[in-house]
Amino acid sequence: MLCLGIESSCDETALAFVEDGAVMGSVLSSQSRVHSHFGGVVPEIASREHYRFIGQLFGELLQKTGKTVSDIDGVSVTRGPGLLGSLLVGIAFAKMVALVSNTLFIGVNHLHAHIMAAAIERDMDYPFLGVLISGGHTNLYKITGPTKFYQLGRSIDDAVGETFDKVGSLLGMPYPAGKAIDDLASLGKTDSVIFPRPYTDNDNLDFSFSGLKTALSAHIHKSDQHSDILARSIFIRDTCACFNAAVADTICIKVERALRKHNDLRAIVVAGGAASNNMIRDKLKSLALELDTECILVPPHLCTDNAVMIAYLGWLYLKSGYQHPLGIEAIPRGKMVPDDMILESGHLLDSQNLGF
Ligand code: KG4
Ligand code: ZN
Repeated sequence: MLCLGIESSCDETALAFVEDGAVMGSVLSSQSRVHSHFGGVVPEIASREHYRFIGQLFGELLQKTGKTVSDIDGVSVTRGPGLLGSLLVGIAFAKMVALVSNTLFIGVNHLHAHIMAAAIERDMDYPFLGVLISGGHTNLYKITGPTKFYQLGRSIDDAVGETFDKVGSLLGMPYPAGKAIDDLASLGKTDSVIFPRPYTDNDNLDFSFSGLKTALSAHIHKSDQHSDILARSIFIRDTCACFNAAVADTICIKVERALRKHNDLRAIVVAGGAASNNMIRDKLKSLALELDTECILVPPHLCTDNAVMIAYLGWLYLKSGYQHPLGIEAIPRGKMVPDDMILESGHLLDSQNLGF
C-alpha cells in the first residue's frame, strides 16, 4: 500500500511516500528563515507559505520517486494539533488528492506521529513510554499498540522546545534557538550555576518550564555587566550548558517516575524536535541503562517536523482498516484531537485518547 503523507501544522511544508512501511521519498520546505525576523512563527505568514509551496512540492515528490497520482492507495494528513490556517492548507490539499485518486483518507495526530517515527527503522515491543518533546508540547504517553496512545502527562505551560526558543531570544539568538543552544551547551560547564529542576517536587507526570525561563531571565539580566567579549562568550556557553542540564534532568525525573508508576513499560521512546538535543539524549540513555530499560531515540533527521512520520502513522491506521470520511476538520492547538477513525465495519476506534 502506497501512502502519501502531508505535514503543514507549523512552519514546515512536507510531503512523503511510505509504501508497505518503507520510506519511498520525501520533500520538505522550511519557513524558519522567514519567521526568524519576527522571533517566532507568524500564523498568517505560515499559512500563505504553505499554500505557495504545497503543489510544487507534491510535483517534486512524484518526480523524485517516479510515482504517479494513480499509484497512491491512501492519503494521510496532519489533522492537528497545530496552527489552524496552516493545517487547513494541508488538509484541503490532502482531500483533493484523495478525491481525484479515489483513495482511502486519514487525518492523524501530529504528536502520535512524532512518537511512531521510532518504528520506521525497527520493530517495537509494546507497551512503551513515549516521551514527546517538541516546540509546542512536552507529553508522556503509554503506547500499547501501533495505534493505541494513552496520555500520562503533559506540559501545563511552555513546552521544552518553546523554552529553548524563548531562552535563545533572551540570549539574542534567532528563532528557532534549540540547535544553537545545544551546540553552545556542549562547549560550556554544567555546574557554573544550578538552575531549578522545575515542577518536580510533586508526584505527577506533568511539566512546567515557565519558572525555569524566569530564572534564566534573571540570571541573564544580572550578567549584563560583561562588556568583555571573551567573558561574555564564556558566560553564554556556561548558561546554555546549565540551562540544558536543568531541562534534561527535569525530563529524566519525570521519565523515571513514569516508569516506576507503570512498571509494565518495556522501553523509553524519545521523539519530537527537542529529542535531537545531545544532552537530553545522553542523560536519557544513562537513565535507561541505570533502570535496565531500553532507550529508543528517534534518529535526528526524523525528530523535527517531517511528512515521513505522517505517512507512516497513516499507513499503520489504513492497513489496520481505519479511515476517515473526507468531511473531517482541522484541530487547532489546545483542542483534543479525537480518535474518531472509522473501521471499515463502521466502528469507531476504541481508545481513551486524552491528547492535547
Ligand atoms: O517537533 P518540532 O519540529 O515542531 C513542533 O511540532 O513543535 O520541534 C521544533 C522545536 C523548536 O522549538 C526547536 O528549537 C526545537 O524543536 N529543537 C531543539 C533542537 N533542535 C530543534 N531543541 C533543543 N535542542 C535541539 N538540538
Ligand atoms: Zn512537531
